[in-house]
Amino acid sequence: MLSINTERLAIRLEELAQIGAREDGGVCRLAFSDDDLKGRNYVSDILNSLGMEVRIDAIGNLFGILNGTSDLPAVMIGSHTDTVGTGGKYDGALGVLAAVEAAERLIESESPRKRTLIVASFVNEEGVRFMPDMMGSLIHSGHYSINDARQDTDINGTTIGEELDRLSYGGKDSLDDLNVGCFLELHIEQGPILEDARLEIGVVTGVQGLSWTQVEVNGSTNHAGTTPMDRRKDAGTAAGRMTEKLRALPKQYPDLRLTIGSTVYEPGLINVIPERVRFTIDARHPDSDTLKRVESEIQLILKSEDVCQVDNHSLARVEPCTFSPSVVEAVADAAQSHDLSHTNMISGAGHDAQILTSCYECGMVFVPSRSGISHNVTEYTSPEHVTAGANVLLSATHTLLERD
Ligand code: HGY
Ligand code: MN
Ligand code: MN
Repeated sequence: MLSINTERLAIRLEELAQIGAREDGGVCRLAFSDDDLKGRNYVSDILNSLGMEVRIDAIGNLFGILNGTSDLPAVMIGSHTDTVGTGGKYDGALGVLAAVEAAERLIESESPRKRTLIVASFVNEEGVRFMPDMMGSLIHSGHYSINDARQDTDINGTTIGEELDRLSYGGKDSLDDLNVGCFLELHIEQGPILEDARLEIGVVTGVQGLSWTQVEVNGSTNHAGTTPMDRRKDAGTAAGRMTEKLRALPKQYPDLRLTIGSTVYEPGLINVIPERVRFTIDARHPDSDTLKRVESEIQLILKSEDVCQVDNHSLARVEPCTFSPSVVEAVADAAQSHDLSHTNMISGAGHDAQILTSCYECGMVFVPSRSGISHNVTEYTSPEHVTAGANVLLSATHTLLERD
């Protein structure tokens, strides 16, 4: 049974983590930044050195192609190399580098390949600088247009179009000539389930749904000392009223995860009543109908505000998804064949695989996150679990490449 080169993968994880390294040991490679491009180039250099055909599409998604002997639909494996601002070494990077390692092991072992293998690295999976998240896979699967993406702006007003042109980030290639059948992604769990259960592998059966909303509360500035409390249009107090009700929603919907991740006060001065507050809502739930009910509750809460003007719009929305039984089975069989403890589970985090279920049979492999921590500079997965996950990816990929 094929297995990965543990040391080579460990070295590459460390090398990639040096690109966008933060002083506190974390990683920051925001999408369409110079470090993001350096990270992508680090991966494409390896793919080129392996003699794989390398393609880059208009938004900058990276693909390495290893031809098979038949014209059966190709197997695609990979993830993303962009990170959040307080990122770690493993979120996304593990999935891309383990996919590169799988390709390299298949080349080294001269394993016959009935199907073509494609190693993929999708751009802007995190969506923290430019929304929506999972943008590269949304564009690849035809759910978002490159023209819309080029108009997207970050908080400084820079557009993706400007960054694509400044960095010559986009390519001219497409995958239209390739017939892709399935996509498999190795990823850290980013939660506590596997570690709490002392299990080595998560056989991911699906991903919960996600709904991101931007809220803008408009009041009026006034003097903090002279303005009586009952004569204020204090956007901060209004935002507080709404966020208190929003944060109570998970009590009504037990599996709901709701996060007010960003709140910005304007003018943000100690002695000035806030004129404007912008805050975000990240709501997630595994059931589609329940997520829709929660979204309606959110709208009712925003409409209940009667002192300040409240505007809101959706930033991103992804339905819950179920992965393909045949890909899930290949992952479970691979974990079994490597004698690794494993369990079926759904993903709490959003992933490219969730988007790609609209066009490919998809599946994911999870490995434990220490203390369930991620999107945090202390994110960590042990070398043993990195190796276990990469071996499961390699074996499941081999199975998928050889199936009729
Ligand atoms: O937000 C997410 O779930 C993913 O990390 N983009
Ligand atoms: Mn990720
Ligand atoms: Mn992430």
